[in-house]
Amino acid sequence: MRFVDIIEKKRDGQELTREEITGLVGSFTADTMPDYQMAALLMAIFFRGLSDQETAALTLAMADSGEKLDLSSVPGIKVDKHSTGGVADTTTLILAPLVAAAGVPVAKMSGRGLGFTGGTIDKLESIPGFRTALSRQEFLDNLRNIKVAVTGQTPTIAPADGKIYSLRDVTATVESIPLIASSIMSKKIAAGADKIVLDVKIGNGAFMKNIDDAVKLAVTMVRIGDMVGRKTSAIITSMNEPLGRAVGNGLEVEEAIAILSGKGGAQELIDVCLFIGAHMLFAGGVATDIQSGQDKLKRIIDSKQGLVKFRELIAAQGGDTAVIENSDLLPKAKVIQSVKSSQAGYVQSIDTARIGYNAMLLGAGREYKGQQIDLAAGLVMNCRIGDYVEKDSPLVTLHTNSDANLGIVTENVRQTVKIGSDPVSRQPLILGTVDDNGVHLFDAL
Ligand code: URA
Ligand code: CA
Repeated sequence: MRFVDIIEKKRDGQELTREEITGLVGSFTADTMPDYQMAALLMAIFFRGLSDQETAALTLAMADSGEKLDLSSVPGIKVDKHSTGGVADTTTLILAPLVAAAGVPVAKMSGRGLGFTGGTIDKLESIPGFRTALSRQEFLDNLRNIKVAVTGQTPTIAPADGKIYSLRDVTATVESIPLIASSIMSKKIAAGADKIVLDVKIGNGAFMKNIDDAVKLAVTMVRIGDMVGRKTSAIITSMNEPLGRAVGNGLEVEEAIAILSGKGGAQELIDVCLFIGAHMLFAGGVATDIQSGQDKLKRIIDSKQGLVKFRELIAAQGGDTAVIENSDLLPKAKVIQSVKSSQAGYVQSIDTARIGYNAMLLGAGREYKGQQIDLAAGLVMNCRIGDYVEKDSPLVTLHTNSDANLGIVTENVRQTVKIGSDPVSRQPLILGTVDDNGVHLFDAL
């Protein structure tokens, strides 16, 4: 069949066969299908959607387009965790050591930040000496020895996804649930985990803006996992305010260390970590239910076993473990300045994406791939939705090495945190779960 016939078939709303999908992805990866035909097909998919069978076929074809990691030499059920991206989403830094300390191997391939969202690889690189480009052998050895390894995702993992994503980015076809679901799942499958726990973010700092879309995305990914034999569950969490307090690379490492040390950090970030982590322990067979998984993780924080594991991770990847006792060894900004509230009142709402965007303007993030970032830069939230703030109290603390954008960021941040006289209740952050038993939304909604 010619490419044009397949495009026409999807344009007219018909279902493509597994062979057609596999053939298209193979041809596109091998550069024998031109961009303009893939672009047309993506737009047809955007409007017509994909069936569960088509979505699973696309996922597998993209996973098979490059290297697939074989983790079978590592004992235990390997559980991967993925967040759809947010602001002050420091969960991986906290969860990887906690879950590994509980006995579940964590093999994590992570990305770099782009736009208003951060990336775990950038965050870890703020630890002096920490290497995020491990060889296959080092990755597997560390996983066997200390049950945790974090490495940057190489272009050899699901290269078809990388190529298709670049095209989606410039053809207005990113916001398609089956395309997002297959993109995420293809990389998780190629990275080799046996089971997958997804954190699907919803809100003004996330891809998904409403609960219906978040549930649809979660259900689609859980079904893909089912169909390809990688059991998947999803947690739906709010991104209507930054999750933790710190937004920025070194600052987030500092908050993660505080939490693992039992010495602070945002309680909301801890709660989300315990909930996602408990699902990882359950999937990994070391907790019989979610409550006992959460209790186990709390004990691991209290006994400092999580902190010990984080130290092992830093040492195994060449980083300076002294950062754990001395946060002054993390990159520090020259300018630290607070944005003060112009009135007394309750925090009504926070434009989360805009907070992330302003952290980027201070140097913490990149506007385009490959851009240099400042690991010391970012901001720290001193308030959450529902808090009462006095006039002139510091709402947000800015950290930067360049005062180029300080004025504009100060003004932006002041507009981003809305203060009003009406009391506002605190927002629940954990909104629901999706697994093979179905969708469970919590009462708060
Ligand atoms: N993240 C991905 O990896 N892929 C998408 O398509 C969207 C978000
Ligand atoms: Ca079941």
